[in-house]
Amino acid sequence: MIIQPRTRGFICLTSHPQGAAQNIKNQIEYVKSKGEIANGPKKVLVIGASTGFGIASRISAAFGSGAATIGVFFEKPAAEGKPGTAGWYNSAAFEKEAHEAGLYAKSINGDAFSDEVKKQTIELIKQDLGQVDLVVYSLASPRRTHPKTGVAHASVLKPIQEPFTNKTVDFHTGVISDITIQPVENGEDIANTVAVMGGEDWKFWIEDLKAAGVLAEGAKTVAYSYIGPELTYPIYRNGTIGRAKDDLEGTVPAINAILSDIHGVSYVSVNKALVTQSSSAIPVVPLYISLLYKVMKEKGIHEGTIEQMQRLFAERLYTADGKVSLDEKGRIRVDDLEMRPDVQAEVAALWEKATTENLAEISDIEGYRNEFFNLFGFNFDGIDYNADTNEVVGVPSIE
Ligand code: NAI
Ligand code: NA
Repeated sequence: MIIQPRTRGFICLTSHPQGAAQNIKNQIEYVKSKGEIANGPKKVLVIGASTGFGIASRISAAFGSGAATIGVFFEKPAAEGKPGTAGWYNSAAFEKEAHEAGLYAKSINGDAFSDEVKKQTIELIKQDLGQVDLVVYSLASPRRTHPKTGVAHASVLKPIQEPFTNKTVDFHTGVISDITIQPVENGEDIANTVAVMGGEDWKFWIEDLKAAGVLAEGAKTVAYSYIGPELTYPIYRNGTIGRAKDDLEGTVPAINAILSDIHGVSYVSVNKALVTQSSSAIPVVPLYISLLYKVMKEKGIHEGTIEQMQRLFAERLYTADGKVSLDEKGRIRVDDLEMRPDVQAEVAALWEKATTENLAEISDIEGYRNEFFNLFGFNFDGIDYNADTNEVVGVPSIE
């Protein structure tokens, strides 16, 4: 199969196996270049392990502190002239690299929201690892079938009070236009978004893992959140997805209670805005990211998902004195550089100025586009995208 990028809107329909493998190798090299993460995790479960922050967490644990990892994700292998998904190829490449480095790595492909996949994961932990000492929760999904009620919830990205009008960019063409997003019509949109992206499923996981006895003494768990700038508040933090993030953050005390007798602890880490399959679907956010990248690269403080997760592990979750620094609401902040006042002031000024005509000059739209294609294994040097990929790529631990 010759695999070229094929896009529809903010989605890329194709992925390249050798390109995805290169992406994983580059992330592994970065983590190794930072040296060993002292006192890092040893047996790790990553839920949402195949793309974005999840695969970067898995790589940081495995190649930063030699951890055995189990990854749970929802991906598709290639079939009938159709390439597999990027997360499938990422996971295939990750397992291959991990095994070559002598590290345990197995994966489960299925619906993490289901009781069935939770059971399957617990069986695998019991069989191979006994217990895990870190659980990373990095799911991002537009829908969730509730395991107890059977209701299929769909999340929405909407403001809550009033219509929201602002600039947005089509990152393929670089055309900036105004977009107006209508607010939710009733509480159902909010409840559905909270059901999909809030904290309930994270809590279900920890309840089940704890009850099965597969969490080690002192186990940690971390889930990811976002805050961002005021200009995206109506669509992000004060919108439906923000309500889900409030709920996720609000689940920490309940999870701490579940973990208290094994002296475990849960955290939410607020991460930086980055190009991932999930964030490219949010209106307004891609323009903000392309301006943010420009400012942060100029200041020499830009980070991608792997730099963020390596820093989360090495400088927040696993510190020399065991202390984890938190904000006034009890959250870990690795969005600290994004939120620096000088960075935000410069992005806000650029936001006012941005037009289709000056976009290429004042933003890093080129970098945005490049990273978007990188997510799917495209735009990597040294890969011949006109060549037949010519092999069936499997995730070694999945038949
Ligand atoms: P992503 O789309 O790259 O990754 C989502 C992961 O969830 C993939 O591994 C996918 O296979 C898995 N998944 C989705 N539905 C599943 C299901 N039903 N069963 C099993 N696995 C499933 O997303 P990204 O951006 O890495 O997001 C992860 C977390 O980080 C989310 O909570 C997101 O809100 C948060 N975050 C993202 C930021 C960004 O700018 N991208 C910024 C800060 C936080
Ligand atoms: Na992820």
